[in-house]
Amino acid sequence: MKNRKLDYLYKKKKIAGVIFKNRLISSPISINMAKNGFVTKNIINFFSNLARSGVSMVTVGATAISQQGNDTLRGMIAGDKKYFKGLKLLAKNIKKNGANASLQIYHVGAQGNPKHNNQEIVGPSKYFFKKIGVKSRSLKINEIKRIEDDFCKSIIQAFKSNFDFVELHLAHGYLLHEFLSNYFNKRKDKYGGVFNNRFRIIKNILEKCYKLEPNLIGKIGFRLSANDYVKNGFVKKDIEQLVKKLDKFKPAYYVVTAGLYETADKKYQDMKIGKYWYYAKNIKKKSSTPVIAQGGITNLYTAQDLISGDFSDFVGFAQSLIADPKMIIKTITGNEKKIIPCVAHLKVGSCHRCRYLKQKDNSFSCITPSSWKPSEDIVTKKNIKKDLSIWKKLNSQVYSI
Ligand SMILES: Cc1cc2nc3c(=O)[nH]c(=O)nc-3n(C[C@H](O)[C@H](O)[C@H](O)COP(=O)(O)O)c2cc1C
Ligand code: SF4
Repeated sequence: MKNRKLDYLYKKKKIAGVIFKNRLISSPISINMAKNGFVTKNIINFFSNLARSGVSMVTVGATAISQQGNDTLRGMIAGDKKYFKGLKLLAKNIKKNGANASLQIYHVGAQGNPKHNNQEIVGPSKYFFKKIGVKSRSLKINEIKRIEDDFCKSIIQAFKSNFDFVELHLAHGYLLHEFLSNYFNKRKDKYGGVFNNRFRIIKNILEKCYKLEPNLIGKIGFRLSANDYVKNGFVKKDIEQLVKKLDKFKPAYYVVTAGLYETADKKYQDMKIGKYWYYAKNIKKKSSTPVIAQGGITNLYTAQDLISGDFSDFVGFAQSLIADPKMIIKTITGNEKKIIPCVAHLKVGSCHRCRYLKQKDNSFSCITPSSWKPSEDIVTKKNIKKDLSIWKKLNSQVYSI
């Protein structure tokens, strides 16, 4: 590494009155350990552990606006008043452990799988997800209105349960992204066609939220997609147009990502060569809203280079912190050599266990010995042994290349 200094990472920053002690963010992660949509002890423990990792903000990943919008039966849900208590406890614990808290809100849309969420799959238009053989149905106007209302309820509930920020998921081919992208949205009514129409659902959600809860202004961050990697998909000019529209709503931050479920392979390759960081840099040039660069950042020195090189204001880590939640602490205390890296960061495609285990047995775990381990779950207890043997095998293969 050329630059061994980490001074840029430890410059404080304030967003909407909230102080960030540094520029390190724990990227949105969903661990599929909710029960009937409710926050569980495992969820609180996992995110509290991340809050102790040395980041300035923990983003709790994909929390659905309803079971229809949930990608599995074990994803978190927000909106109904019964979820309030659990969310409040989660926010409280993240903050108690030293980090700001953000809750990401989403609807899975046409990429859902009825085998995982027991729901009819819906999207802006009909879509055939070839890989899994699932066809989605096009939403009716009254259903879209209902979804707008559900988004508002969930966003307001997240805010009232003391999350510092709410992150609206406009990427990865989930419902709101599907409305934005011509690849998914073939509607001929006021929700399809020109960009203003494709943006309508987001505009309606934000206007309604701000009217009902003016204190939300400045507190909503957005997960944006820079590239769908498909013909007619969302690309550079679209994200630039989107940022122009969103800037009028005084966003807390933008976090820049890319890809759909069906283009996952392409996105991992792009991530590996640092292309996502350039997507973030482009947005930073176009907007004064704070930008989080993420995707394939494996160490604090790259993070420092990204901040000092004006790629972004913050940097996000997911798999590095899943694989070794002490990664930041080990670096700043001079124990870098003890960091256990994510195997997928070492070699693209070598491991997907944390992401895809849920499709097999509804659980989450990471194979490294340094990762957080869940409790109270028979399935995952069994997995711990299995994980370690996978890690030993994969690690020896990756290092022998
Ligand atoms: C287990 C796991 C769960 C994830 N869950 C979410 C999520 O809920 N929402 C989201 O936007 N991204 C999610 N991601 C993507 C990460 O936020 C991140 O964009 C991706 O892993 C690339 O960053 P990295 O190289 O730092 O891991 C998840 C990733 C992993 C590995
Ligand atoms: S399970 Fe595999 S891909 Fe996921 S964080 Fe751990 S090592 Fe990385």
